[in-house]
Amino acid sequence: MLSGMRPTGKLHLGNYMGALYNWVRLQHEYECYFFVADLHALTSDYADTSQLKQNTLEVLVDFLAGGLDPEKCVIFVQSRVKPHFELPQLLAMITPLGWLERVPTYKEQQENLSNKDLSTYGFLGYPLMMASDILLYQAHFVPVGQDQVAHVEFTREIARRFNNFYPFNPVPAQAALRGPDLPPAEVLPEPQVLLTPSPKLPGTDGRKMSKSYGNTILLSDPEPVIRQKLKPMVTDPARIRRTDPGNPEVCPVFDLHKVFSSAETQQKAREGCTTAGIGCIECKSWVADAIVAELAPIQERRARYESDPGLVKDILEDGRRRATVRAEQTMREVRAAVGLGE
Ligand code: TRP
Ligand code: SF4
Repeated sequence: MLSGMRPTGKLHLGNYMGALYNWVRLQHEYECYFFVADLHALTSDYADTSQLKQNTLEVLVDFLAGGLDPEKCVIFVQSRVKPHFELPQLLAMITPLGWLERVPTYKEQQENLSNKDLSTYGFLGYPLMMASDILLYQAHFVPVGQDQVAHVEFTREIARRFNNFYPFNPVPAQAALRGPDLPPAEVLPEPQVLLTPSPKLPGTDGRKMSKSYGNTILLSDPEPVIRQKLKPMVTDPARIRRTDPGNPEVCPVFDLHKVFSSAETQQKAREGCTTAGIGCIECKSWVADAIVAELAPIQERRARYESDPGLVKDILEDGRRRATVRAEQTMREVRAAVGLGE
């Protein structure tokens, strides 16, 4: 299993509940590879790379703080594992231009990010890089949200095309190593999406929590900051006075209760809201309690890693080494299948 995240800087609750939270669970069930997709960041943010290194490190520390265990899974940075430069180039040879132009995010992003010039070769090739990320580990499953499904579908199509052109795995010993559950002849197995549940998680302005809206709560926010951010949070707009009963089902604060609060607290909040028995300030303080409790162990781990940069460096180096070994194994099969020499 493999998944990755762009280095957007410190992770927020939306990133956590949408991805990392699931990964932490999955690392006990599968052979897992998780990575920071710093090359993907370059496809759109090539003009200003001043934050890239720091952002990559922040995401890594959040991976570890969030509960990814380097003993249980392989954690690495994409650009440190050289095959991530090699496979996209080979796949490019068999990729029809039209396939890349038809990936839905291509035109969408070009329109949405009109402040950036995305008419580059690298940006067009984004899906090839993502396909390579997955195929280098011969991953069976890719846990992602709905927004990435088209990319995994693209990966399947490229894998199929590769296997059609180069149908035999000429490294039988390695094919056998992959176990009896795969047809040994295929170099690039088609991955499947593992659609991860991602609860509705509004930011403090009621819109989807997102860095670009500036409405986030970070995994690393200290308790006072969390409380401060929640205080002005949007509530049921019809609840104007303290004496007006509210409707939790239209209130973004209650969406947070649903994710983080116990059943009892949710019941207490629903009851208090609909009868005007509580005010929104009190209701928000309960959500804050729940979030603070959820983040406490994460922040404890973060502090431990932050105080020991050598440890993070060692974990990274170990991840780089293990990812390279696995990716190189695939590359030997790929090179031989394509007809390149040893
Ligand atoms: N494109 C993904 C995103 O923007 C990140 C990513 C890059 C990824 N390579 C991947 C996710 C491979 C899963 C598998 O979130
Ligand atoms: Fe929302 Fe809670 Fe206020 Fe009701 S009491 S409107 S659920 S914040």
